[in-house]
Amino acid sequence: MPTSSRSAVRTAVLPVAGLGTRFLPVTKAVPKEMLPLVDRPCIDYAVAEAVAAGIERVVLVTSPAKASLARYYEPDPDLEAHLRAHGKDELLARVQAIGRGVQVETVIQQQALGLGHAVLTARKVVDDEVFAVLLADDVVDAAEPAIGQLIDAWQPGHAVVALMEVPAEETRRYGVCAGLWREPDLMEVHAMVEKPAPAVAPSNQAIVGRYVLPREIFAILERTDEGSGGEIQLTDALATLAARGQVLGKVFEGRRFDTGNVLGFLEATLHYTRKRPELRAGLDEILDRL
Ligand code: UTP
Repeated sequence: MPTSSRSAVRTAVLPVAGLGTRFLPVTKAVPKEMLPLVDRPCIDYAVAEAVAAGIERVVLVTSPAKASLARYYEPDPDLEAHLRAHGKDELLARVQAIGRGVQVETVIQQQALGLGHAVLTARKVVDDEVFAVLLADDVVDAAEPAIGQLIDAWQPGHAVVALMEVPAEETRRYGVCAGLWREPDLMEVHAMVEKPAPAVAPSNQAIVGRYVLPREIFAILERTDEGSGGEIQLTDALATLAARGQVLGKVFEGRRFDTGNVLGFLEATLHYTRKRPELRAGLDEILDRL
């Protein structure tokens, strides 16, 4: 394993300031990243993935309305005292384990002007030459953390995006890449298009929410105009790097769930519930009854 690239990437930016319109009305009051997958909020799966890949610092790009996200990572001495006093040691251990091994910080995106704008908002606290970005609503269950797979594929001066093959009729939900395959799972990306209709999609290799980005991306984002949906798109900024041969696409191993929409969230919930030995039989019984 190329451990040198693992140690080069120490910071992960998690943009979590979106409006979550696909999950309204619940997202009117609860951020989609706080919806529970079994008994942990979605965001915690991305944080755990980052930690497992060697990330030491997580920057949450959040909005004024989403204070609960940062609160989840703050210690709660009253709750801990209560659990201790009632002998609930196992729960106490689980509460104390939240965010262990990583420093969690917050920056505020005042307005949801797009994913690219959210990443740009992190500029003031990210000095690193290269950093990771994880979109918490893309949950990936993998033997090797998905972001770690990208970090291992990273080369200096390059960006790496996570690629996944999707059916042609779904290209309009993703940024889509075309380029040359350097290896069976590693593309040198030459073109990227945000949410193309199937007829104009350059391929069916879609970008999902994991990136390794060079610091240079900030300067490019600053010059990037509004794109698809009137938002500042990360894909548009990456297209500038791709035109210079500086983007790699890594087809990652793992199972990805889009928890930003209702059915994807339910699928992820069932998947992770069945992985818990103490819950599996109970869930199967419920499904049989239904
Ligand atoms: P999405 O498009 O999946 O999230 O953005 P959304 O806009 O919240 O959801 P819908 O489409 O309205 O249902 C991908 C990621 O980028 C973040 C989101 O929180 C999500 O994690 N994002 C998006 C921001 O942080 N700021 C933005 O302005 C837009």
